[in-house]
Amino acid sequence: MNKLAIVTGGAGNIGQAVVARLAKDNYRIVILDMNPDAGKAVVGDFAKRGVDLDFHCANLSDEAAVKATFAAIIAKHGRVDLLVNVAGGSFYRHKFEDFPLDHWRTIIDANLTATFLCCRAVTVLMKNQKAGTIVNISSDIAYSGGENRSAYAAAKAGILGLTRTLALELAPAGVRVNAVAPGRIETTKVRSHYTDEEWTKSNERIPLGHPGAVEDVAEAVAYLASDGAKHVTGQTMHVNGGRIMH
Ligand SMILES: NC(=O)c1ccc[n+]([C@@H]2O[C@H](COP(=O)([O-])OP(=O)(O)OC[C@H]3O[C@@H](n4cnc5c(N)ncnc54)[C@H](O)[C@@H]3O)[C@@H](O)[C@H]2O)c1
Repeated sequence: MNKLAIVTGGAGNIGQAVVARLAKDNYRIVILDMNPDAGKAVVGDFAKRGVDLDFHCANLSDEAAVKATFAAIIAKHGRVDLLVNVAGGSFYRHKFEDFPLDHWRTIIDANLTATFLCCRAVTVLMKNQKAGTIVNISSDIAYSGGENRSAYAAAKAGILGLTRTLALELAPAGVRVNAVAPGRIETTKVRSHYTDEEWTKSNERIPLGHPGAVEDVAEAVAYLASDGAKHVTGQTMHVNGGRIMH
């Protein structure tokens, strides 16, 4: 029986690349996303490529929705071998002094709370399985900070503390928990924030001279999920062209 992977944010840019990469490793894959149309479209696209996905539409910041979704997945598949927490985003930018609390909470919830809830939903199962691995997506902004993005920086830094703590708690069961911190990844959404001139200029800050591709993040996830990383836990893999070295 093939291993089962759950990819949150699986309808988004990086999520789809992670799904495509894990499909090459023969995982059965369930995607979770709050965007119903995008989720259905991704299922249709992958079906044309010969990859069958299950899709559950859920707001992963909502405790009851996460519980019900994971209960349904576990009832159907019986196990979870890999959880990749990709869902999130920076959504709003404000000067620190003007940051509205509701926008702060939305960002913390979509990135940090959703990661917490999804990890918690598989913790007992993976402990009992004495197997399984989790990869959480953080960001280089967790290290560098980001002007007008205080909530996002805090949420993504919080994911790293969560990752290390859960790695410690699950290590006795042989379950590994790691993070990937992407730098600038060229997606349609990210690119749309910049003029051509701003884009070229800001890419000069990246030592390798160009932004990453979604596939670069997916490769890091696949490595951390693989047996090749069997002695790697509590770590953060940076995929940022050398912008931050840690
Ligand atoms: N693109 C980049 O340059 C970059 C860099 C560093 C980190 N990241 C992180 O990578 C992840 C994916 O980014 P992306 O570029 O693919 O963005 P994206 O917007 O294309 O994908 C994010 C997906 O998450 C889903 N989502 C958001 N909040 C949710 C919630 N509460 N419940 C369920 N689903 C939810 C969205 O519907 C979307 O499909 C995010 O966590 C982002 O912060 C991206």
